[in-house]
Amino acid sequence: MRNIFFALLALISSVSYSQEISIIPKPVKETIKKGEFVISSKTVMVAEGEDAKKAAAFLNDYLQDFYGFQLKIANQPGSNYIQLLTKKIFSSGTGDSYSMDVSKSAVKIEGNTHEATFYGVQTLIQLLPVEKSAKLKLPAIEVEDYPRFKYRGLMLDVGRHFMPLDFVKKYIDFIALHKMNRFHWHLTEDQGWRIEIKKYPKLTEIGSCRNGTIIGHHPGTGNDNEKNCGYYTQEQIREVVKYAADRYITIIPEIEMPGHSSAAIAAYPQLSCFPDESTAIAKGVTWAGDTTGKQVQQSWGVYDDVYCPSEYTFKFLEDVLDEVMQLFPSEYIHVGGDECPKTNWKRSTFCQNLIKEKGLKDEEGLQSYFIQRIEKYLNSKGKRIIGWDEILEGGIAPNATIMSWRGESGGIAAAKQHHNVIMTPGNYVYFDHAQSKKEDSLTIGGYLPLETVYYYNPVPAELGPAEQKFVLGAQANVWTEYMSNPGKVEYMIFPRLSALSEVLWSPNADKNFDDFLQRMQAQYKRYDLWNVKYNTKGIRKGE
Ligand code: ACM
Repeated sequence: MRNIFFALLALISSVSYSQEISIIPKPVKETIKKGEFVISSKTVMVAEGEDAKKAAAFLNDYLQDFYGFQLKIANQPGSNYIQLLTKKIFSSGTGDSYSMDVSKSAVKIEGNTHEATFYGVQTLIQLLPVEKSAKLKLPAIEVEDYPRFKYRGLMLDVGRHFMPLDFVKKYIDFIALHKMNRFHWHLTEDQGWRIEIKKYPKLTEIGSCRNGTIIGHHPGTGNDNEKNCGYYTQEQIREVVKYAADRYITIIPEIEMPGHSSAAIAAYPQLSCFPDESTAIAKGVTWAGDTTGKQVQQSWGVYDDVYCPSEYTFKFLEDVLDEVMQLFPSEYIHVGGDECPKTNWKRSTFCQNLIKEKGLKDEEGLQSYFIQRIEKYLNSKGKRIIGWDEILEGGIAPNATIMSWRGESGGIAAAKQHHNVIMTPGNYVYFDHAQSKKEDSLTIGGYLPLETVYYYNPVPAELGPAEQKFVLGAQANVWTEYMSNPGKVEYMIFPRLSALSEVLWSPNADKNFDDFLQRMQAQYKRYDLWNVKYNTKGIRKGE
């Protein structure tokens, strides 16, 4: 009887512990200990060096925002302290490993890189109570942890709908809180050019505004007839780049080419092979304002008026990229390359002559020539390109990294050719797809419930060990045709971002959706603490 009583007691206490400890993404190893650490007004944070101070600042900002206080930074540990330290501890695949030890008197986080120490802070945040309470207790625990993939990304399309600077920063915080490290910023589109380029002021004067937006699904039931504008100044971009760097997040800017370029063409019609032709309006679309000349698009989809592969265009793109490279320290620049119809190149005498002159096979070869020329330029400046998987067609640029979005086949083909790959297949990580069969808000369509994201494995079984190493990681894409405001973006990324963080960080062998859902109970409360919108329907496949 006594034994049963103690067994029951042990079970109850282990249940209460496992409810308290619900770290997402799940660490490689966690050992639960007895006791707790209490954060009080006496607690100090010991953080030496610039980088540890960055991690400390992040934690203090978080404590300020959600619990209303900050910790003092001290040089020496006292009787109750949180210590952030970067030193070599144990090795892992990616190098960014940290350990964390929470005991009664101290929380010690030791990273073997600065970013690893920062990731330790994210784990600490996951141990904080999810309700604002007078007593901030952390359960005692030991953690050893490191990420599965080097590239852990989230994209945001600010072309279809411009997102305010403050939200872009919030989005970067969401990335950081999930131990992710790449923000792919999709800055140019048919519906808006969002980055100030000093040499070409019309890109933002003209290209950052459209006269209206269709209502409802393409082609729409009408047009809202409202001017829709927005862009980031270079000063704002510098601010965001620093904000991201302080969170160990690299921003990869995307300047789309040769397709999805209507906004740039509206600003500088000579970029088109047919500068005198008015912009085509898609069938069924109700248009707002002037229908003549080159216009910024007001509906979604793919448009035939693309960059002409002329010397004027190449000079323009090189100038634009020069300014982009000045702003973004990222080694990678994304050059798009997706969904470029060849209709205009086929009927352009200039393009047909160019194909002959360069000895190219066809228009696919011309696209390949286009991307390779841009790659050569960027490589000469010490940068590397990423392109959507269409850049494989007609021959891949020699040093390009492929972002595989039309399933995984492009990624598999690229890895087999020993090119780096980032997996972003539509069926697993397109966060613009509906989350539930019962989704009642307007989305682009598709169906991607939480469980499908959770069980995604970015390393395809078709690749042998030598090829697998070319898969750098994965990324979720957030296309904003049907997300006109930050709240809708939040609703579409949460809770799927939590599942993605586990795909990218945690060991694949440990996957267990029921365990994840158990840990999500605390995470939903944390979303409430953050005051973000999230979806609660469509958790399991089929729902
Ligand atoms: C894409 O979704 N067009 C890359």
